[in-house]
Amino acid sequence: MRILGIESSCDETAAAVVEDGGRILSSAISSQISTHAKYGGVVPELASREHLRGIVPVVRLALEQASTRIEELSAIAVTQGPGLVGSLLVGITYAKALALTRHLPLIAVNHIEGHIHSVISQQLASDSPVEFPALALVVSGGHTHLYEVGEKLTYRLLGKTRDDAAGEAFDKVAKLLGFGYPGGPVIDALAVHGDPHAVHFTLAKMKGNTLDFSFSGIKTAVLRWTEARDLSGEIARRRGLLGETAGPSVEQWLSVTPRTTLDLLASFQYTVIEELLRRAARSAEEIAARSVVISGGVACNAGLRRAVQKRRLPYPVFFPSPGLSTDNAAMIAAAAFPKFARGEFADMTLRAQANLALV
Ligand code: KG4
Ligand code: ZN
Repeated sequence: MRILGIESSCDETAAAVVEDGGRILSSAISSQISTHAKYGGVVPELASREHLRGIVPVVRLALEQASTRIEELSAIAVTQGPGLVGSLLVGITYAKALALTRHLPLIAVNHIEGHIHSVISQQLASDSPVEFPALALVVSGGHTHLYEVGEKLTYRLLGKTRDDAAGEAFDKVAKLLGFGYPGGPVIDALAVHGDPHAVHFTLAKMKGNTLDFSFSGIKTAVLRWTEARDLSGEIARRRGLLGETAGPSVEQWLSVTPRTTLDLLASFQYTVIEELLRRAARSAEEIAARSVVISGGVACNAGLRRAVQKRRLPYPVFFPSPGLSTDNAAMIAAAAFPKFARGEFADMTLRAQANLALV
């Protein structure tokens, strides 16, 4: 059984064909990073325009790479939200048109559920499946959420960010320091060249739900740190580098980044990772988790993966393969399989929901 997944919630136009819930036959992604990079973040109007441009070729590519004709599909799955409404609309409208004209069932998928399924489906195809109850940490540019995932794929929200998402904090810090967009991969690559204990960040104590996160304080602390120094020269050199090269190499970044700034980056990343893992560990303990799933763009972070490896945890921790960490459509198609089995179909009234919650 094959499902075509379509994802267009943020700045990647993606389509994928997944077979039997775990076998990815194709995963085509058209990234808009180069369009948004010069603005230091995603510009919603440009994102919708790029999705419109990308959707038809991306779906065609996904079908071609999977050697699958539309007639061989069992359903079309599409991201309903959360995300940018104009971007979501493009994927939803296209999925509806395809479902209607090809007489295929339509399945609406929550983007966050997709991120969780990127790992569940990957492990299903291996010999160490995710065991339930599982603790899921979804950490990306738009979300930092902790969920309890039950055997029947039920979700209970345990904690979330009250302000910035962790990926957003990476992106804002990078932008501030002249590293461009997205910030996560650059900071990750440079953090190993600095001392993670050089700068100490004090974090706000959470009132109310202590499993909630807050990353705006650390972002402000970085701003104060930069304001206390004259970094205009090095920031200008980095912006200049960005103007010359689409994706500067680590060596090029290192040539325009002094040790003090590398120490700041390392300390920032260390603090964010500690925050994420401390609350994830507490949540896992609270729900007696049998496994932990970490997904979303920030799950690519090498420092985060090393920090997990270093801790001796009483449960397995699963990460998606790098291609499945950031936004993709394979995770959307994978998340649709249990819905197909339960007969949970959407109809032509399906609407994009920018703030769709996962319950
Ligand atoms: O899942 P994703 O592609 O889109 C959203 O749903 O937001 O995640 C993108 C986010 C960006 O904020 C990006 O900076 C971050 O993931 N990211 C990383 C890394 N790679 C991507 N953050 C930290 N370390 C990385 N290696
Ligand atoms: Zn995402």
